[in-house]
Amino acid sequence: MTLFPEMITGSLSNSITGRASDKGFISFNAVNIRDYSNDIKHHKVDDYTYGGGAGMLMQAQPIYDCFISIKDEILKRGGKSPRVIYVTPQGAVFNQKMAQEFATEEDIVFLCGHYEGVDERVLEEIVTDYVSIGDYVLTGGELPAMVMIDAISRLVPGVLNNDESAMTESFNNNLLEYPQYSRPEEWMGKKVPAILLSGDHKKVDEWRLEKSIERTMERRPDLYEKYLAENPPKPPKKKRRRRKADPEISSEQVTGDKTINTENGE
Ligand code: ADE
Repeated sequence: MTLFPEMITGSLSNSITGRASDKGFISFNAVNIRDYSNDIKHHKVDDYTYGGGAGMLMQAQPIYDCFISIKDEILKRGGKSPRVIYVTPQGAVFNQKMAQEFATEEDIVFLCGHYEGVDERVLEEIVTDYVSIGDYVLTGGELPAMVMIDAISRLVPGVLNNDESAMTESFNNNLLEYPQYSRPEEWMGKKVPAILLSGDHKKVDEWRLEKSIERTMERRPDLYEKYLAENPPKPPKKKRRRRKADPEISSEQVTGDKTINTENGE
């Protein structure tokens, strides 16, 4: 729901989201709130704020009627009442986990605000989620909605060509992605790390995890803390302390002693 549908269609019909919608993996519908104004002559959708203050407010009626028409269409084709995301700097800050959760929804409606905001009563009536894209203020909700639509769409099965690329990327497991290299093997005197040319997949995976951890610690210490909380380091394997050599036991018996695995505290 927007006052600038061309902003949405113009952007999302390109590149990966465009291809995915052509192929039917996802579909977008930018609905113009102005079309639902009761003001036949001027299609007015905003008015002054009660109590004074600068700027105009988007009125409740056009937004509500616009939503009801979208919801009716969804219900008619057998869908359930959709989640309605109001994109606002007052919302919870969007992240990859939220993108994953939203990607499981059959339908999502985004409400893009403009002017000084939206009449609170319609928000109370229709909004299920208040979501921001960061602690800064933009001129309207279209760009944030597109950011979220892009991040959500690429998690829908079939949208990306290679399922793997959605699995190993940054933010999975609260880690940033490891560094990557392509041909040539040497560029400006910089060589591709030898391990990546080794063909040893296990070693490559270990190296990548190590680099992901290093990079996250360095660039996003906040994320690294989350990673640590969810993946506490395993306690080091304790070696059973060898008792002082018993003069009765031969040195052969002592060296034959096995180390007990204490990983599980056993
Ligand atoms: N509208 C204006 N600024 C915004 C932001 N940072 N996130 C979401 N919606 C917004």
